[in-house]
Amino acid sequence: MTTTADYSVKIPNNVDLHEDRRLQRALESWQPNFLSWWESMGPTLPTEDVYLRTAVNVGREGWAHFGHVPMKDYRWGIFLAERDRERQIGFGQHQGEPAWQKVPGEYRAELQRLIVVQGDTEPASVEQQRNLGATAPSLYDLRNLFQVNVEEGRHLWAMVYLLHAYFGREGREEAEELLHRNSGSQDSPRILGAFNEETPDWLSFFMFTYFTDRDGKYQLGTLKESAFDPLSRTCEFMLKEEAHHMMVGTTGIDRVVERTAQVMTEHDTDDVTAHGAIPLPVIQKYLNFHYSVSLDLFGSETSTNVANYFTAGLKGRWMEGRRKDDHRLTDDAILVDALDDGQIAQTEVAALVGLNTDLRREYIADCQSGVTRWNRILDGAGMPQRLYLPHVAFNRQVGAFAGIETSPTGEQLSAEEWQRRKGDWLPTEVDKTYVRSLMRPVHERGKIAAWIAPPRQGINGQPFDFDYVHLA
Ligand SMILES: [Fe+2]
Ligand SMILES: [Fe+2]
Repeated sequence: MTTTADYSVKIPNNVDLHEDRRLQRALESWQPNFLSWWESMGPTLPTEDVYLRTAVNVGREGWAHFGHVPMKDYRWGIFLAERDRERQIGFGQHQGEPAWQKVPGEYRAELQRLIVVQGDTEPASVEQQRNLGATAPSLYDLRNLFQVNVEEGRHLWAMVYLLHAYFGREGREEAEELLHRNSGSQDSPRILGAFNEETPDWLSFFMFTYFTDRDGKYQLGTLKESAFDPLSRTCEFMLKEEAHHMMVGTTGIDRVVERTAQVMTEHDTDDVTAHGAIPLPVIQKYLNFHYSVSLDLFGSETSTNVANYFTAGLKGRWMEGRRKDDHRLTDDAILVDALDDGQIAQTEVAALVGLNTDLRREYIADCQSGVTRWNRILDGAGMPQRLYLPHVAFNRQVGAFAGIETSPTGEQLSAEEWQRRKGDWLPTEVDKTYVRSLMRPVHERGKIAAWIAPPRQGINGQPFDFDYVHLA
């Protein structure tokens, strides 16, 4: 294992792939399938080249190289964070034992499943976003979209490497399946619900990268703690790339809010549609939707499977190392959301069974930081309006609150009332049509669409009016 990637080979990697000919051949035979998936399911806008970063080193500094590359020639590679030879398992019943370099037979099925579920989300988002290039608000945004897309493609490579290297024939079959399932497909959809939703416009894209990609960050955070060291090191490196995806979502919504506030102040009106901006209530509805479907990704409040994963050492908690407890949790308890006689309540359960709730709580706190930031923009513009996260029971399809309906403030509603009022809280056809009507491409260097403010900074020190993308 080296820190610097070898780019002279077919599959760039820092895992000494050439030392394992069988594995190398297996991955080389998967590679054309990946490329034809990219051709048929990846970005549809024809481009000559894009200013992309490519990972070249997993060390602390200077890990990426920036340059204009044709997207189909992007060097998708396999990169694991550096190995810590002393690494010990940090939690569960194997706490203190050396981290595993191979998959223990008794955990094989579970580990494979965890990797497949994570792996399935990576190409799914590329599929969801494939048509967005045609309506990009600027070349800067177009470049960011493509950067996210190629890196999600690389994340697929990361998971496929693990499947090929450690899970034999079954792993190779799963790697094929990852290319056969498709987002929104009737016959073989992606595994998780939010990854079968459409991303039809750029407001949805920013909400997706803020809320749904952030779920990915938290899932990777738990896998980074895994006793299975190759998985841990893979996820550690993926998290580095995810930071950029988070930035795209956070600053994307910043810029939409900023532009709306500007138009409201300039024209002294809440009705910004006449001026081609997105009304705050519509931004709130998109936020409500993406936040609630992303909460569903964390599964039910309690789960014995997840308790077993933790005890076995397969999946830890967010920032496991910083937790001030025994990292076994056998005697601890946690309060989780529940229904009590049909009413929203909380109930105490064993901490191990409540780990989904623990992770979701970390996620919610992180989501709140974005809302605080957007409200600071509104405040700075002298506006009284505020954005907010809806109640955890709002619009849920998974978990304790799947069977009830509530308003964004958590007021319980009858099914009839929900039907009557949900258009006040979730994007309606009218809202979606309006947002879509704004999605006209601005592919001219240095120009930007009217519904969004330009970014404060460009990419890699380049100005906003840099030639980030050359269209074909
Ligand atoms: Fe990813
Ligand atoms: Fe991502």
